[in-house]
Amino acid sequence: MTAIAIPPLTKDLVRVLIDADTIQRRVDELARKINKEYAGIEESLILVGVLKGSFIFLADLCRKLNVPHVVDFISLSSYGNSSKITGNVRLIMDTRENLENRHVLIVEDILDSGYTLDYLRRNFTARNPASLKTVVLLDKPERRKIDAELDYVGFQIPDVWVVGYGLDYAERYRTLPYIAEMVPVTD
Ligand code: IMP
Ligand code: MG
Repeated sequence: MTAIAIPPLTKDLVRVLIDADTIQRRVDELARKINKEYAGIEESLILVGVLKGSFIFLADLCRKLNVPHVVDFISLSSYGNSSKITGNVRLIMDTRENLENRHVLIVEDILDSGYTLDYLRRNFTARNPASLKTVVLLDKPERRKIDAELDYVGFQIPDVWVVGYGLDYAERYRTLPYIAEMVPVTD
């Protein structure tokens, strides 16, 4: 097998913030913590990935879990195609699984204002899960508008727009293996 080429930075990608190896090591650590915490559960844990940003993180994380689990998804919308905060979260697609009496772990790409996670926690709590926790790959604490309870966090990052490893800017850059800071080029 040939090595996979790392895509080079383009004009609007300012710098690599977290490289691919560092991401993988952290995902390993998060998986170990989750394995420990849910060891011995009788019914499968439900991982609920928040589309689309979490799909790569979820794919890597779930393959490192040794506790019984099923994968499900939810789709929410808060920003449209821009990076402007509206605080207006809408449910676009619900989970397939019934969450009642189940152990639920929300898998999110990034916590920014906190509105998305706050909405999800309230929405899921109303469904009476056996337990409800969250794992977030990235956290931008400076941007928080509403308190958010986080159980597992990958990395805290500064207040910059990031892309790669599932995260996008207007649907671009999701499949970069690293996380890069992006500033749109306006010329
Ligand atoms: P919140 O509701 O403000 O916490 O926003 C969370 C959502 O905004 C995330 O799930 C992402 O989809 C998106 N988001 C926030 N910051 C970034 C970023 O830097 N890059 C890509 N998406 C982001
Ligand atoms: Mg998201």
